[in-house]
Amino acid sequence: MSSGADATADTLDVVTSILVLNGPNLGRLGSREPDVYGTGNLEDLRVALESASRSDHEIDLRQTNDEATLIGWLHEAVDNGSPVILNPAAFTHYSYALRDAAALVTKAGLILVEVHLSNPHAREEFRHTSVISAVATGVIAGFGFDSYLLALELVERRLG
Ligand code: DQA
Repeated sequence: MSSGADATADTLDVVTSILVLNGPNLGRLGSREPDVYGTGNLEDLRVALESASRSDHEIDLRQTNDEATLIGWLHEAVDNGSPVILNPAAFTHYSYALRDAAALVTKAGLILVEVHLSNPHAREEFRHTSVISAVATGVIAGFGFDSYLLALELVERRLG
């Protein structure tokens, strides 16, 4: 038999984090090609996401230049049942390892939104290919920080 305090703990929902994962060179946002990526940095993005959030899900924004780290974070999403907003940056165009990790997320029934600040299709030819898109739930590209904010709205709508 559980005490009153235990009963309260039993009924508490575990609040899932929403992972917002950013690949290589996105740590340089703000100073990196501002004509393409805008003048806001990752901290500005975190603040924008937190103030747009309509749920009590934690927004866990991370950035790495390392492919293995990014793959590990996708494994963590599968293990914890976390939805993912992913800007794979240059890995978008050639990382089959990242694609396979992204497929683990969506095959687990979790939403994974691929986002891009710029519209890669309006840029150099090598950016026209995404090896991630076919295993993502969907893709939002070309709207700067709004790509992430739209993805957050979708994720929160699906989480209910
Ligand atoms: C990007 C587009 C990629 O082609 C590029 O390599 C990036 C950023 C974007 O957000 O527009 O690093 O993913």
